[in-house]
Amino acid sequence: MSMQEATTRVIYDVQSVFYDVTFGKLVRRHIRKAISHMDIQPSDRVLDIGIGTGTSLHFYPRQGSIVGIDLSGGMLRECRKKIREQQRDNVMVLQGNALDLPFGDDTFDHVFISHVISVVSDPFLLIREAQRVAKRNARIIIVNHFQSTNPVVAKVEKWLCPLCTKLGWRSDLPLGELIQRTGVQIDYRYKLESLDLWETVVICNNKSMLTGSNGGILAA
Ligand SMILES: C[S@@+](CC[C@H](N)C(=O)[O-])C[C@H]1O[C@@H](n2cnc3c(N)ncnc32)[C@H](O)[C@@H]1O
Repeated sequence: MSMQEATTRVIYDVQSVFYDVTFGKLVRRHIRKAISHMDIQPSDRVLDIGIGTGTSLHFYPRQGSIVGIDLSGGMLRECRKKIREQQRDNVMVLQGNALDLPFGDDTFDHVFISHVISVVSDPFLLIREAQRVAKRNARIIIVNHFQSTNPVVAKVEKWLCPLCTKLGWRSDLPLGELIQRTGVQIDYRYKLESLDLWETVVICNNKSMLTGSNGGILAA
């Protein structure tokens, strides 16, 4: 595990105590809407990467098999409490690194990545791992803040980045670069409001990072 992941684990172990009443509250609406787009069938397997305290749990159906993974034992402790409270017997969570997923190729029908892509040390490797464990043409849904396309706002975001890093994420990840370097095929993307900080990006798994169909551009 990299130094950044080790630090991230500590940051989120601390944040787990107040996450649900702070950031978790702010992102609930986005998570609910994104999951409502998944159309999860009873035989489907869903992977929630960086499930955290399980804000998403309320919105998954009781059908299908939901697997959550997270680095932070503290975040998972809160998540397990919700699993018990909600008596969710179709949800399983485990501690692990999203950059080295402990699952076989082509396992999942849906992969959800909510507010994690700008937290990991290597977002391109995260996409590669998501593409590997997702079935071909499965949906990979990302909810995240991406760097603004407005140059002034983007400058402010770059300036704020060191502070954000201390809180456990980066504010300057450009979606354009992510698309260009990974070759992902975007089905559609949306914001809940025009001035929304967060965007939902729905990707159809074309396995581009595994087959070299990302225009020959190598991940970092
Ligand atoms: C901002 S929280 C998002 C939690 C949840 N997905 C949500 O939207 O409320 C980021 C989560 O990603 C987890 N995380 C960060 N890096 C990770 C990694 N390399 N592998 C697994 N989980 C990771 C953190 O522990 C934390 O729980």
